[in-house]
Amino acid sequence: MNILAFESSCDETSASVVFYDGERFSVKSNIIASQIETHRVFGGVVPEIASRAHTEAISRITYEALDSAGVTLADISLVAVTANPGLIGALLVGVNFAKALAAANGIPLVAVDHIKGHIAAAYLLDKAPKPPFLALAVSGGHTAIYLAESHTDYKIIGTTRDDAIGESFDKIGRIIGIPYPAGRGFDELSTRGFIKATGEKTDFYSKYKKSAAYKDKSMTLPSPALAGDSLDFSFSGLKTAAINLLHRHEQSGIALDTELFAARYTFEAVEAVAKKIGEALTKYPELDLVMAGGVAANSHLRARLTDLCRRMNRNLFIPPISLCGDNGAMIAAQGYYEYKAGNVSDSSLNASALDSIT
Ligand code: KG4
Ligand code: ZN
Repeated sequence: MNILAFESSCDETSASVVFYDGERFSVKSNIIASQIETHRVFGGVVPEIASRAHTEAISRITYEALDSAGVTLADISLVAVTANPGLIGALLVGVNFAKALAAANGIPLVAVDHIKGHIAAAYLLDKAPKPPFLALAVSGGHTAIYLAESHTDYKIIGTTRDDAIGESFDKIGRIIGIPYPAGRGFDELSTRGFIKATGEKTDFYSKYKKSAAYKDKSMTLPSPALAGDSLDFSFSGLKTAAINLLHRHEQSGIALDTELFAARYTFEAVEAVAKKIGEALTKYPELDLVMAGGVAANSHLRARLTDLCRRMNRNLFIPPISLCGDNGAMIAAQGYYEYKAGNVSDSSLNASALDSIT
């Protein structure tokens, strides 16, 4: 079956056609209209501008998605759309468009949770994970660990109590001069920092803790992993400490080495995630791990969790970088399983800014 899926929860409008042959998915088209340039001058996403840009883009990218997949609406058996969580005005554009298109063409419609969508990007891999598994969602709005009991039933087992990891990279990155969204630039700056700290071009992350840069007290930052049994995080504590560190440097006139600073910040963020994932894998000794979301593109996090899972003898499924950010193909994959579970929507479907997984 061909699935036509829409994603418009934040600053990317995407339409995708994905074919499911009963065993595996193949992405026939995955058109993404990014609004990053539009929002960059403001240093972050402006919700009203995002909604307008989605409205302007959605028809065009739907034609593009159908054309480049070589299909027409007559070939589409299912329409899937992100209905929550996200910016409400942005979500409404996709939901209303998908509802109208499905109703006018007599095609079944399914609503998809954005986070389940991110995780479903892993179903597009040649070797797809099978539930039950543990899932880590790391994005601009989420830092959470889930128990995926089935393709559609999720339980949250750990989450951030305040900021998300991606949001914290974006905010601190902005202060040190990285354009929005800062995640990728932060990743690259950190790599240079790790290399500078250790003198190693490849195996720098594991050697970092022994470096003089790590022992430099003026660069100390707290771990965002909460102490105790909880699998929760607090990225706002790390962010505030980083802002104070930057202020201290400014006030004392000491020039900050942004590469070493970025490396330190990334190290604390990645180690916190690795710590809680290690605890989650210990708690669920039978389960493999899926990592997804925009921050799953982070090279240090990918390498650290790959190493952790290898040592703990678990499989780790991470979508390719091209499917880590927001896209329609991941929504199509989750849409298929929602359809299979009978979660079909009608014209009363509404968008919601809120998480649906508890
Ligand atoms: O999943 P996503 O595209 O949108 C949300 O659902 O939030 O995630 C966007 C986030 C942004 O915070 C962006 O800075 C971050 O993913 N990101 C990265 C990297 N690439 C994107 N963060 C760290 N390292 C990266 N390489
Ligand atoms: Zn996302």
